[in-house]
Amino acid sequence: MTVTTIAARRSCGLYEEDKRDDEIQSSEAHMRIAVLVSGRGSNLGALLEAEERGALAPAEISLVLSNRPQAPALERAREAGRTAVCVDQTRYRGRVAMEEAMLEQLTRHRIDAIVLAGFMRILSARFLASFSERVINVHPSLLPAFPGLDAAAQAIAHGAKVSGCTVHFVDDGVDTGPIIAQACTPVHAGDDAASLHRRIQTLEHELLPRAVQMLADGRLSCIGRRVDIRPLDGT
Ligand code: GRF
Repeated sequence: MTVTTIAARRSCGLYEEDKRDDEIQSSEAHMRIAVLVSGRGSNLGALLEAEERGALAPAEISLVLSNRPQAPALERAREAGRTAVCVDQTRYRGRVAMEEAMLEQLTRHRIDAIVLAGFMRILSARFLASFSERVINVHPSLLPAFPGLDAAAQAIAHGAKVSGCTVHFVDDGVDTGPIIAQACTPVHAGDDAASLHRRIQTLEHELLPRAVQMLADGRLSCIGRRVDIRPLDGT
Protein backbone atom coordinates (compact mmCIF):
# COMPACT_ATOMS: atom_id res chain seq x y z
CA MET A 1 0.00 0.00 0.00
CA THR A 2 1.18 3.49 -0.70
CA VAL A 3 1.47 6.23 1.88
CA THR A 4 -1.99 7.46 2.77
CA THR A 5 -2.12 11.14 3.60
CA ILE A 6 -3.71 12.45 6.77
CA ALA A 7 -6.06 14.55 4.62
CA ALA A 8 -7.27 11.53 2.67
CA ARG A 9 -7.88 9.53 5.80
CA ARG A 10 -9.67 12.45 7.47
CA SER A 11 -12.16 12.48 4.65
CA CYS A 12 -13.25 8.98 5.67
CA GLY A 13 -13.39 9.75 9.38
CA LEU A 14 -9.98 8.39 10.23
CA TYR A 15 -7.19 10.46 11.68
CA GLU A 16 -3.69 9.17 12.13
CA GLU A 17 -0.07 9.88 11.56
CA ASP A 18 1.39 8.87 8.21
CA LYS A 19 2.59 5.31 8.27
CA ARG A 20 3.12 2.81 5.49
CA ASP A 21 2.04 -0.79 6.03
CA ASP A 22 5.63 -1.98 5.70
CA GLU A 23 6.59 0.33 8.59
CA ILE A 24 4.29 -1.57 10.94
CA GLN A 25 6.53 -4.13 12.52
CA SER A 26 5.50 -7.37 14.08
CA SER A 27 7.35 -9.58 16.48
CA GLU A 28 6.50 -13.17 17.30
CA ALA A 29 7.77 -12.82 20.85
CA HIS A 30 5.36 -10.05 21.79
CA MET A 31 1.64 -9.73 22.23
CA ARG A 32 0.64 -6.65 20.27
CA ILE A 33 -1.90 -4.68 22.28
CA ALA A 34 -4.31 -1.98 21.14
CA VAL A 35 -5.48 0.36 23.89
CA LEU A 36 -8.94 1.77 23.15
CA VAL A 37 -9.72 5.12 24.74
CA SER A 38 -12.33 7.87 24.71
CA GLY A 39 -11.20 10.32 27.36
CA ARG A 40 -8.38 11.46 29.60
CA GLY A 41 -6.19 8.41 29.29
CA SER A 42 -4.76 8.11 32.79
CA ASN A 43 -4.95 4.32 32.49
CA LEU A 44 -3.20 4.54 29.14
CA GLY A 45 -0.53 6.59 30.95
CA ALA A 46 -0.16 3.84 33.56
CA LEU A 47 0.19 1.21 30.82
CA LEU A 48 2.82 3.27 29.02
CA GLU A 49 4.78 3.73 32.26
CA ALA A 50 4.54 0.02 33.02
CA GLU A 51 5.81 -0.79 29.55
CA GLU A 52 8.66 1.69 30.00
CA ARG A 53 9.87 -0.08 33.15
CA GLY A 54 9.47 -3.55 31.61
CA ALA A 55 6.40 -4.43 33.67
CA LEU A 56 4.14 -5.14 30.68
CA ALA A 57 6.31 -7.53 28.69
CA PRO A 58 5.65 -9.63 26.68
CA ALA A 59 2.81 -7.21 25.91
CA GLU A 60 3.67 -4.17 23.84
CA ILE A 61 1.40 -1.21 23.15
CA SER A 62 1.27 -1.19 19.38
CA LEU A 63 -1.76 1.02 18.79
CA VAL A 64 -3.88 3.56 20.63
CA LEU A 65 -7.34 3.94 19.10
CA SER A 66 -9.97 6.49 20.05
CA ASN A 67 -13.55 6.98 18.92
CA ARG A 68 -13.32 10.72 19.70
CA PRO A 69 -10.83 13.02 17.94
CA GLN A 70 -10.74 15.37 20.93
CA ALA A 71 -9.83 12.66 23.48
CA PRO A 72 -6.82 13.89 25.51
CA ALA A 73 -5.61 10.28 25.53
CA LEU A 74 -4.73 10.58 21.84
CA GLU A 75 -2.38 13.45 22.60
CA ARG A 76 -0.87 11.49 25.47
CA ALA A 77 -0.18 8.60 23.10
CA ARG A 78 1.42 10.82 20.48
CA GLU A 79 3.58 12.54 23.11
CA ALA A 80 4.83 9.09 24.07
CA GLY A 81 5.66 8.46 20.42
CA ARG A 82 2.91 5.87 19.92
CA THR A 83 0.79 5.14 16.89
CA ALA A 84 -2.49 6.90 17.61
CA VAL A 85 -5.56 6.54 15.44
CA CYS A 86 -9.04 8.00 15.69
CA VAL A 87 -12.02 6.21 14.21
CA ASP A 88 -14.37 9.14 14.62
CA GLN A 89 -17.75 7.77 15.67
CA THR A 90 -19.59 10.77 14.23
CA ARG A 91 -18.42 9.87 10.73
CA TYR A 92 -19.95 6.41 10.56
CA ARG A 93 -23.54 5.39 10.05
CA GLY A 94 -24.17 2.93 12.82
CA ARG A 95 -22.17 0.48 14.87
CA VAL A 96 -21.47 -2.06 12.13
CA ALA A 97 -19.71 0.46 9.89
CA MET A 98 -17.72 1.88 12.76
CA GLU A 99 -16.64 -1.52 14.03
CA GLU A 100 -15.61 -2.50 10.49
CA ALA A 101 -13.32 0.54 10.41
CA MET A 102 -11.92 -0.36 13.83
CA LEU A 103 -11.31 -3.96 12.77
CA GLU A 104 -9.51 -2.73 9.69
CA GLN A 105 -7.12 -0.73 11.87
CA LEU A 106 -6.63 -3.59 14.31
CA THR A 107 -5.84 -5.97 11.47
CA ARG A 108 -3.55 -3.48 9.77
CA HIS A 109 -1.56 -3.06 12.98
CA ARG A 110 -1.53 -6.85 13.57
CA ILE A 111 -3.16 -6.51 16.96
CA ASP A 112 -3.39 -9.63 19.13
CA ALA A 113 -5.39 -8.29 22.08
CA ILE A 114 -7.40 -5.23 23.10
CA VAL A 115 -7.46 -3.25 26.34
CA LEU A 116 -10.44 -0.98 26.91
CA ALA A 117 -9.18 1.88 29.06
CA GLY A 118 -12.09 4.28 29.33
CA PHE A 119 -13.54 3.37 25.92
CA MET A 120 -17.12 4.57 26.06
CA ARG A 121 -18.79 2.28 23.56
CA ILE A 122 -20.33 -1.16 23.81
CA LEU A 123 -18.72 -3.63 21.41
CA SER A 124 -20.92 -6.06 19.50
CA ALA A 125 -20.72 -9.85 19.83
CA ARG A 126 -19.67 -9.92 16.17
CA PHE A 127 -16.71 -7.63 16.83
CA LEU A 128 -15.70 -9.49 19.98
CA ALA A 129 -15.75 -12.84 18.15
CA SER A 130 -12.62 -11.72 16.29
CA PHE A 131 -10.76 -11.41 19.63
CA SER A 132 -12.12 -14.24 21.75
CA GLU A 133 -10.84 -13.96 25.36
CA ARG A 134 -8.47 -11.25 24.22
CA VAL A 135 -10.44 -8.12 25.11
CA ILE A 136 -10.23 -6.78 28.66
CA ASN A 137 -11.76 -3.76 30.36
CA VAL A 138 -11.21 -1.82 33.57
CA HIS A 139 -14.28 -0.63 35.45
CA PRO A 140 -14.39 1.63 38.54
CA SER A 141 -16.47 -0.57 40.85
CA LEU A 142 -16.42 -3.99 42.41
CA LEU A 143 -18.48 -5.77 39.77
CA PRO A 144 -21.13 -7.07 39.59
CA ALA A 145 -22.08 -4.04 41.71
CA PHE A 146 -22.57 -0.75 39.87
CA PRO A 147 -21.98 -1.54 36.19
CA GLY A 148 -22.38 1.15 33.54
CA LEU A 149 -21.85 4.88 33.81
CA ASP A 150 -20.91 6.88 36.92
CA ALA A 151 -20.00 3.84 38.99
CA ALA A 152 -18.42 5.86 41.81
CA ALA A 153 -21.52 8.05 42.07
CA GLN A 154 -23.67 4.91 42.11
CA ALA A 155 -21.59 3.49 44.98
CA ILE A 156 -21.92 6.71 47.01
CA ALA A 157 -25.66 6.97 46.33
CA HIS A 158 -26.12 3.35 47.40
CA GLY A 159 -24.25 3.90 50.65
CA ALA A 160 -21.57 1.30 49.87
CA LYS A 161 -18.82 1.07 52.50
CA VAL A 162 -16.29 -0.49 50.13
CA SER A 163 -15.68 0.11 46.47
CA GLY A 164 -12.81 -0.46 44.06
CA CYS A 165 -12.05 -1.50 40.53
CA THR A 166 -12.43 -4.60 38.40
CA VAL A 167 -10.48 -5.83 35.39
CA HIS A 168 -12.56 -8.28 33.40
CA PHE A 169 -12.85 -10.00 30.06
CA VAL A 170 -15.33 -8.27 27.82
CA ASP A 171 -18.50 -9.92 26.59
CA ASP A 172 -21.35 -8.23 24.77
CA GLY A 173 -23.09 -7.14 27.98
CA VAL A 174 -22.37 -3.99 29.97
CA ASP A 175 -19.50 -4.82 32.36
CA THR A 176 -20.69 -8.43 32.67
CA GLY A 177 -17.68 -10.48 31.49
CA PRO A 178 -15.62 -12.91 33.63
CA ILE A 179 -13.64 -11.16 36.37
CA ILE A 180 -9.84 -11.31 36.18
CA ALA A 181 -8.83 -9.18 39.17
CA GLN A 182 -10.22 -6.69 41.65
CA ALA A 183 -8.84 -4.19 44.14
CA CYS A 184 -10.78 -2.40 46.84
CA THR A 185 -10.83 0.79 48.86
CA PRO A 186 -13.04 1.95 51.74
CA VAL A 187 -15.67 4.58 50.97
CA HIS A 188 -15.05 7.39 53.47
CA ALA A 189 -17.84 9.36 55.13
CA GLY A 190 -16.75 12.58 53.43
CA ASP A 191 -16.32 11.08 49.95
CA ASP A 192 -18.09 12.43 46.92
CA ALA A 193 -18.05 10.71 43.53
CA ALA A 194 -14.94 12.62 42.43
CA SER A 195 -12.82 11.84 45.51
CA LEU A 196 -13.84 8.18 45.45
CA HIS A 197 -13.15 7.89 41.73
CA ARG A 198 -9.68 9.44 42.21
CA ARG A 199 -8.83 6.80 44.82
CA ILE A 200 -10.25 4.03 42.63
CA GLN A 201 -8.15 5.24 39.70
CA THR A 202 -4.98 4.88 41.75
CA LEU A 203 -5.93 1.22 42.14
CA GLU A 204 -6.75 0.89 38.43
CA HIS A 205 -3.32 2.19 37.47
CA GLU A 206 -1.73 -0.72 39.35
CA LEU A 207 -4.19 -3.45 38.54
CA LEU A 208 -4.67 -2.95 34.81
CA PRO A 209 -0.99 -3.26 33.80
CA ARG A 210 -0.67 -6.37 35.96
CA ALA A 211 -3.69 -7.95 34.27
CA VAL A 212 -2.36 -7.07 30.81
CA GLN A 213 0.94 -8.72 31.63
CA MET A 214 -0.83 -11.84 32.88
CA LEU A 215 -2.86 -11.98 29.67
CA ALA A 216 0.25 -11.62 27.53
CA ASP A 217 2.05 -14.25 29.58
CA GLY A 218 -0.77 -16.71 28.80
CA ARG A 219 -1.56 -17.03 32.49
CA LEU A 220 -5.32 -16.43 32.19
CA SER A 221 -7.90 -19.02 31.24
CA CYS A 222 -11.68 -18.79 31.40
CA ILE A 223 -13.56 -21.75 32.82
CA GLY A 224 -17.15 -20.67 32.41
CA ARG A 225 -17.42 -17.46 34.40
CA ARG A 226 -14.31 -18.18 36.45
CA VAL A 227 -10.90 -16.91 35.35
CA ASP A 228 -8.04 -19.13 36.45
CA ILE A 229 -4.70 -17.38 36.95
CA ARG A 230 -1.71 -19.65 36.50
CA PRO A 231 0.98 -18.89 39.09
CA LEU A 232 4.26 -17.41 37.88
CA ASP A 233 6.28 -20.58 38.37
CA GLY A 234 3.94 -22.36 35.92
CA THR A 235 2.55 -24.90 38.42
C1 GRF B 1 -11.65 4.65 34.35
O1 GRF B 1 -12.10 4.98 35.62
C2 GRF B 1 -12.15 3.29 33.92
O2 GRF B 1 -12.42 2.47 34.99
C3 GRF B 1 -13.43 3.63 33.21
O3 GRF B 1 -13.20 4.84 32.56
C4 GRF B 1 -12.22 5.57 33.27
C5 GRF B 1 -11.16 6.01 32.29
O4 GRF B 1 -10.26 6.91 32.86
N1 GRF B 1 -13.81 2.54 32.33
P1 GRF B 1 -8.94 7.34 32.09
O5 GRF B 1 -9.39 7.91 30.74
O6 GRF B 1 -8.08 6.14 31.95
O7 GRF B 1 -8.34 8.41 32.96
